[in-house]
Amino acid sequence: MLNIENLFKSFRSKAGAIDVLNGVNLEIADGEVVSILGPSGAGKSTLLRCVNFLEYAERGVMTLDGYRVDAARASKADILHMRRSTAMVFQNYNLFQNKTALDNVAEGLLVRGISRAAARDKARGMLGKVGMLDKADEYPSRLSGGQQQRVGIARALALEPSILLLDEPTSALDSELVGEVLKVIRDLVRERITMLIVTHEIRFGREISDRVAFFDEGAIVEYGSTESFFNSPQSERTQRFLQRYNQNA
Ligand SMILES: Nc1ncnc2c1ncn2[C@@H]1O[C@H](COP(=O)(O)OP(=O)(O)OP(=O)(O)O)[C@@H](O)[C@H]1O
Ligand SMILES: [Mg+2]
Repeated sequence: MLNIENLFKSFRSKAGAIDVLNGVNLEIADGEVVSILGPSGAGKSTLLRCVNFLEYAERGVMTLDGYRVDAARASKADILHMRRSTAMVFQNYNLFQNKTALDNVAEGLLVRGISRAAARDKARGMLGKVGMLDKADEYPSRLSGGQQQRVGIARALALEPSILLLDEPTSALDSELVGEVLKVIRDLVRERITMLIVTHEIRFGREISDRVAFFDEGAIVEYGSTESFFNSPQSERTQRFLQRYNQNA
């Protein structure tokens, strides 16, 4: 369904260039849930942003729903395909502060040329799905972090992406608000929505994922079934990472 081959990305600054993605390979089947674990600064967010074309990878191939995009020479049509077939859920929600919850969800539909009435109808349905219909007319500043993130998830779902990309969806939340967001994500797992989720909630990742990837220094150093990832990790870096996790658990 989504196949990423040999993706490279570097950032340039006055201090020089840093290589952030060093040949990422990843494959996700339809209906599959894949978690990406790994240390801070490894390039996890950059990977999701490159898939969604919020950032431009320099090299590599991404194939989504049979449509092949060569990152080095992506056309406008290629970029549009990737943007329309994917939807992001951001760590910091990224809601429009001057729009209500309902309008935040409807906005992306209006951009796609759907009528105002139909967009608002659909937005209401999506807010219902995440348990936020009663807050449809509230502005983000009057919502808790957990509520804002649920609106963020409704906004992404409204676009009916082939794959949902979630970047540490609970890491900005106070611990008592994490549960309500994880519950919504669990519901999506039950619906077999294809998801690529960067998370530091290791226990949660283990519970919901079909496969788990360990990402370090711009590449995936281990990728396997959740079962084999946790029970018999092959790479030494994964083993060390899991040891630390088991000590703290
Ligand atoms: N726009 C940018 N310009 C320059 N450097 C960037 C930019 N975005 C990210 N980087 C650098 O790329 C590297 C990877 O960043 P990224 O945000 O992808 O890591 P991450 O794995 O998501 O980390 P975290 O777990 O802290 O979210 C970091 O060294 C970061 O400083
Ligand atoms: Mg990140």
